[in-house]
Amino acid sequence: MCGIVGYVGKDNAKDIVIDGLKKLEYRGYDSAGIAIIRNGKLEVKKHVGGIANLENLIGEDPMTSNIAIGHTRWATHGVPSDDNAHPHTSQDGKIAIVHNGIIENYVELKHQLEEKHGVIFRTETDSEVIAQLIGVIYKEKKDLLQSVFDAVDKMRGTYAIVAMSQDEPDRMVAVRKDAPLIVGLGKENNFVASDIPALLKYVKEIYLIENNETVLVKADEVKIFNEDRKEIKREVFHVTWDVDAAEKEGYEHFMLKEIYEQPKGLSETLNRRLTKDGKIRLEGISLTKEDIDNINKIYIVACGTAYHAGLVGKYIIEKLAKIPVEVDVASEFRYRDPLVDEKTLFIAISQSGETLDTLAALREAKKRGARVLSVVNVVGSSVARESDDVFYTWAGPEIAVASTKAYTTQLMCMYMLALYMGLETGTLTREYYDNFIKDLQEVPGKLKTFFRNVSQIEELSKSLYNREQVFFIGRGLDSAVSYEGSLKLKEISYINSFAIAAGELKHGTIALMEPGTLVIALACQDFLYEKMVSNIQEIKARGAYVLAIAKEGNDAIAKQSDTMIYIPECRDEIVPLISVVPLQLFAYYVARERGCNIDKPKNLAKSVTVE
Ligand code: G6P
Repeated sequence: MCGIVGYVGKDNAKDIVIDGLKKLEYRGYDSAGIAIIRNGKLEVKKHVGGIANLENLIGEDPMTSNIAIGHTRWATHGVPSDDNAHPHTSQDGKIAIVHNGIIENYVELKHQLEEKHGVIFRTETDSEVIAQLIGVIYKEKKDLLQSVFDAVDKMRGTYAIVAMSQDEPDRMVAVRKDAPLIVGLGKENNFVASDIPALLKYVKEIYLIENNETVLVKADEVKIFNEDRKEIKREVFHVTWDVDAAEKEGYEHFMLKEIYEQPKGLSETLNRRLTKDGKIRLEGISLTKEDIDNINKIYIVACGTAYHAGLVGKYIIEKLAKIPVEVDVASEFRYRDPLVDEKTLFIAISQSGETLDTLAALREAKKRGARVLSVVNVVGSSVARESDDVFYTWAGPEIAVASTKAYTTQLMCMYMLALYMGLETGTLTREYYDNFIKDLQEVPGKLKTFFRNVSQIEELSKSLYNREQVFFIGRGLDSAVSYEGSLKLKEISYINSFAIAAGELKHGTIALMEPGTLVIALACQDFLYEKMVSNIQEIKARGAYVLAIAKEGNDAIAKQSDTMIYIPECRDEIVPLISVVPLQLFAYYVARERGCNIDKPKNLAKSVTVE
């Protein structure tokens, strides 16, 4: 979703800001723009489409300046167009802003600005209101910081905003409410951005800006103010990962690199939390036996892929820890009247930790008295900061929009939580627990072995890439994984894909089976596999073409199917950690075959910071 980069310092600001915007491309966007102050005059360049279009527009012009703000826009109010792209400017052209979020009362503010101040709006966006409002206030206050304070008081909604004024060319003012914003601390150089990858090349020291805080950023000074406009101190956050972690390292796409990083991410997430005697040490989480006994229900709430990790979480926690679990998508949970109270453990799962719906659901659960535990990848993100306990997935930065390693590490956290709770409360014997941990520890190695057969999936995709629709079926945990496999395929290849519990096929969806319809059947649950054989026979009888995924040596499934992908043998419960990988790879190779923009699929954003 929208990306923001701002710079003030001794170097040429345009180059740094454009470079930073490129690092934020993964968030998803449809237009880009930049504003600088050159020889005392504000200049804006913006263009619909990719950053390359903006660069073409700029051409050879060095846009020499020590200050710049830049933006990649993901359209919400108004179509993607040159006019609607950010930065937006005030009527007199002296103030420029970039904005990520939505100004909910923009219509009301717009009317006031038109009627009282004669402002003529030039775009269809809600964001232009911010520039116009600051512009009007600035005429009286003649101070950017004070004008931003006053403007924000009048606005409702979500925002990360960065503003600059041609009359104060040495500073940017940024403000945050429910949209990510960080400040990068350099030497005679300071930065603002939506997230860390944009700045990694330049700085490792960061201020994480909290909600309702305003920041004044100059080349040699950064001041943070709270809601009462009082200056406050903030600890410096040191980024531990390096630039390479956010680079492709020779892989054709980030998605492929991230698929291959799964053994490492899984091993980090698990092994770094095991004590010498094999017990799970939940750093950052204080969940005692008493706490667990006090819980009568767990609610797992998330969006997209993270929600699919929750589906597996439900199965595993109920099986191992014997606590009832409900799973819901955040956008539904928050507007229902969910039965949540102080006996509920609310688990939010989010890669970015900035998904607005998930954040809002978390707040709703907190309000109702639930204890909030989050499973998050981005350290210091909003979801992490607002939770009582945080369980970090140590997947490293995930750049491709389609989530892969974040999903499998989220699954690992689900297994660890379930095992931890099961052992604490005595629903599991120590022997069962130890064997399970041992099996989890073997997963990274099994995945590495599996990667030796990737060429088979690449070949398969060459014959199947031009299908118009694909169905994914499975039972039990295989069903949960099939939802994720289907989402991956539709996200990056734009094939109309659909997942359904195999037993439910006969209640409607089977009507869609035609000769040649591609069905991907997951049959990796030993105790359900005979049931899957029946389901496969039902669709084969209607002429479907079946690609089955099963454990090595399962010849019975092979006999029923048109083609097979085998995964390494493992216990049924941990199958999702492995079986999702061929589905990720299948989606990847099909999308590549179709010439799709794999890392940045159309219409999608990595971090969805609007409702
Ligand atoms: C977006 C992304 C998905 C992601 C979902 C939840 O829709 O495109 O890939 O699964 O948001 O994101 P989160 O950061 O909360 O896991």
